[in-house]
Amino acid sequence: MKVLFLNGPNLNLLGQREPEIYGSMKLSDIEDMVREHGERHGVEVVFHQSNHEGELVTQVQQSAGNYDYVILNAAAYTHSSIGLKDAIVGAGVKAIEIHLTNIHARESYRQTSIIAQSCIGSINGFEAGSYILGLEAAILHNNAND
Ligand code: DQA
Repeated sequence: MKVLFLNGPNLNLLGQREPEIYGSMKLSDIEDMVREHGERHGVEVVFHQSNHEGELVTQVQQSAGNYDYVILNAAAYTHSSIGLKDAIVGAGVKAIEIHLTNIHARESYRQTSIIAQSCIGSINGFEAGSYILGLEAAILHNNAND
């Protein structure tokens, strides 16, 4: 199984960005942790981060046929990007939404996810653990739908 982790804007700043909200792990630390977890389960994991909405749309489109699942922390684009939602639906990609924080317990403008209805499901609020849980969700879903 091959899984693409797509990370949206400002997630390249993890570690230094509002650590009281997002924790102290850098994105590269999370990537190492997730890759190790993937190896233990025979899952190939690829990580990508972009601050640009269009690049994320292109990545979603290009993932079709190349990856079994896209696990997406769309960051701020979660709450604004119809383009990203359309890309998931249009490309027929199996997507899982993840967030470090519990977006439902935060500012009202973060409580709506435009991409959620195009995803298999969503995981949020477990800090870096949301990435591991996202991978576990993909493994479970794949086993159940084999
Ligand atoms: C986030 C939540 C978003 O609201 C925010 O814009 C982010 C990170 C999270 O992982 O908790 O950049 O997606």
